Amino acid sequence: MEEKRPTWTSRYTFMLAAIGSAVGLGNIWRFPYIMGQYGGAVFLVVYLTLIMTICFVPLMAELYLGKHTKKECIGAYESVSPKLKPLGALNPVTGVLIASFYFIVGGWIINYITKSFCMSCHCDYAQYFSDFIAEPVYPCVLTLAFLFMCIFFTAKGVKKGIEFANKVLMPLFAVILLILVIFSLNLPNAYLGLEYMFKPDLTKVTPQMVLAALGQAFFTLSIGMGALLTYGSYIDEDKNITKSVYTIILSDTAFAILAGIMIFPAVFSFNLEPSSGAGLVFITLPKIFAQLPFGNLVSFAFFVLLFCAAVTSGISILEAPCATLIEQFKISRIKSCAILFGIISLIAIPATLSFGLLNKYTLFNKTIFDFLDFTTSNILLPLNTLILCLIAGWMLKLDGRKFFTNRVLIFMFNICLKFIVPSALISLLYIGLRN
Ligand code: PHE
Repeated sequence: MEEKRPTWTSRYTFMLAAIGSAVGLGNIWRFPYIMGQYGGAVFLVVYLTLIMTICFVPLMAELYLGKHTKKECIGAYESVSPKLKPLGALNPVTGVLIASFYFIVGGWIINYITKSFCMSCHCDYAQYFSDFIAEPVYPCVLTLAFLFMCIFFTAKGVKKGIEFANKVLMPLFAVILLILVIFSLNLPNAYLGLEYMFKPDLTKVTPQMVLAALGQAFFTLSIGMGALLTYGSYIDEDKNITKSVYTIILSDTAFAILAGIMIFPAVFSFNLEPSSGAGLVFITLPKIFAQLPFGNLVSFAFFVLLFCAAVTSGISILEAPCATLIEQFKISRIKSCAILFGIISLIAIPATLSFGLLNKYTLFNKTIFDFLDFTTSNILLPLNTLILCLIAGWMLKLDGRKFFTNRVLIFMFNICLKFIVPSALISLLYIGLRN
């Protein structure tokens, strides 16, 4: 049975869903630790410059392609040229691979929510984390539980599922974030964290850091796997998307900075290491929570915050492959979700086990989890974005005049789409592959 194409209820619900997609683990888990690794404030300056200029263009192109063709990824690329079908298919494939590692972290979050009230200050948090992720059964159950929760909303459809989840979870996310920011700013020596975030030291600018900022910017804006193309294809009325794109970028950036303001003052207040990598959220922060007044409650609130962010992004990751299955194979949404659940589980379970039982099995010297994270973030997302820019700029001949009236902006948009963004992406891919 062929499904009728869904549409958003209003521009507001579309923007909420797009912001929900953008604001995710990338903002709260990834952004602060990458910023910590690359020198804090300088990274922030470079990141802000890139996100406000170069990232704007592919985001616009992706939404435009969806809105213009009213099709999912494969159909949208095919409408530009039938030869592009396989390149279109690369988007939902990337989505499935991202889902397979993103949902593992979602499972870890569920564990930390449930454990918030039973952790004590005497716990060795690093040991606890590495023991937990190496367990053979529980993390797999949690990964599947997280996948099930997200796919539940996807299966309910655009209005009753995706819009509903975003309408409930995004305001909850914003309120918890603001409360935690205020709490963190009131800790002793909080200013040291702010100084670390906002005092720029230009000697730390290196090409590596610029590329890391660019990679983070694309990841956090959800560009390059068809999520926004698919969301764009549900835009019904003939609204200008330029304003929406600015709102998405500004909100995403504001949430990433607020996440930093929530995390760094706390880290500095307890004299801990700000650049402790991926363990920042699962090791360093629980250590801090344990020493705070009402620490259990703060921990609970923080992981619920992370959960809201991860679910709204998770739903968007699923929507592109889901829409592709529905429209390419003419099956129902429920069937498509069931198939997706099966495929993602098959990849996610070995990836979950790659921290313990399967840690000896490596692909290109990386565990299955690291391989999925690496290939999607460093290769497939930039590659898909590169292909998208080339198609939009050179084949579809997308012109800045569609979005702006100012001559300088039109010129900048066209130059970025055709030359600057593709060159930046080729450098990103080159560095990614060389690593
Ligand atoms: N933008 C999301 C985040 O910041 C991740 C994501 C990537 C979502 C790609 C959809 C597509 O966590």
